[in-house]
Amino acid sequence: NHAMRVLGIETSCDETAAAVVEEGIKILGNKVASQVDIHSRYGGVVPEVASRQHLLSIVPVMRQCLESASLTMHDIDAVAVTCGPGLAGSLLVGANFAKATAMAAGKPLIGINHLEGHIYANWLTGHIPTLPALALIVSGGHTDLVLMKDHGDYRLIGRTRDDAAGEAFDKAARLLNLGYPGGPVIEKAAKSGKPTLKLPKGVIPGSSDFSFSGLKTALYRLAETGQAGSPNDAAASFQEAVVKVLVKRTLATAEEWGVNQILLAGGVAANGRLREKILQDSPVPVSIPPLSLCTDNAAIIASCGYFHLVKGERSGLDLDVFPSLPF
Ligand code: KG4
Ligand code: ZN
Repeated sequence: NHAMRVLGIETSCDETAAAVVEEGIKILGNKVASQVDIHSRYGGVVPEVASRQHLLSIVPVMRQCLESASLTMHDIDAVAVTCGPGLAGSLLVGANFAKATAMAAGKPLIGINHLEGHIYANWLTGHIPTLPALALIVSGGHTDLVLMKDHGDYRLIGRTRDDAAGEAFDKAARLLNLGYPGGPVIEKAAKSGKPTLKLPKGVIPGSSDFSFSGLKTALYRLAETGQAGSPNDAAASFQEAVVKVLVKRTLATAEEWGVNQILLAGGVAANGRLREKILQDSPVPVSIPPLSLCTDNAAIIASCGYFHLVKGERSGLDLDVFPSLPF
């Protein structure tokens, strides 16, 4: 009865990733092939290009992952794969590959919700979170505040009504001609700027929901009329506005539900200013995974898969993909 090892596969967007995680918490191997250089030529992810690139990368990435851990499929107990949300063509490559791998090795398969997977970055840091916790999932496609009472027991408390936080960063960066992907370039520019612009708050009054499209429009108007100042100041202002509302709403919700811990997750959790401010302002402990676990990877999928598998959950080999799977 050895420690359970799960192979994770992730291809929902523009990273091709494979990982092996033991007992849901210990990373044995973790490989990510990023397509960012390819898509940056187009200023965003091109779905057809992404699917094709996954097809080219998935086998080498899986091989490198197993080799880096000195493992073979004989050492693997189950396969976990992202089945949504994401780009249909991209999800299909990973799902089909995971099915073939599970079938050939005679191991169980489990389909994983990418958003739930992001939360599990917090189980891979060396410190196990104490539940109930409030997770702030901020990625390119989602901005969700999720109350996690137990593994598999979630309640969606708040979400964005329009743009996701990462999407807002990406659009703002395009507007300011700073490049792609938006989050890292805005963060870099903001380091040399000051938050001088007055921007709207990014909330839906009377709810726990976010709204980032007004922020983007305000920035657009200022830029169009020559009132945005230097790109660095505009970037700093935009970042400060997004971070402020994320932190404020998260802390208010955490207090309201009396959680033991706050968990950060998703690509935007890589943002240095967000990390700094939430640590500064929060009265409850905040778990902040390292950058490499915040952005898309397969270790989070393998970890999440483990906690489903130990409950006896399995997917059939007829597993489908769900491009707009909700949390
Ligand atoms: O979770 P993720 O890697 O992919 C999705 O599932 O969407 O998140 C990608 C998003 C992008 O919108 C990117 O601009 C944003 O995360 N991001 C950041 C930073 N690094 C990545 N946003 C703000 N600051 C960063 N340092
Ligand atoms: Zn993601």
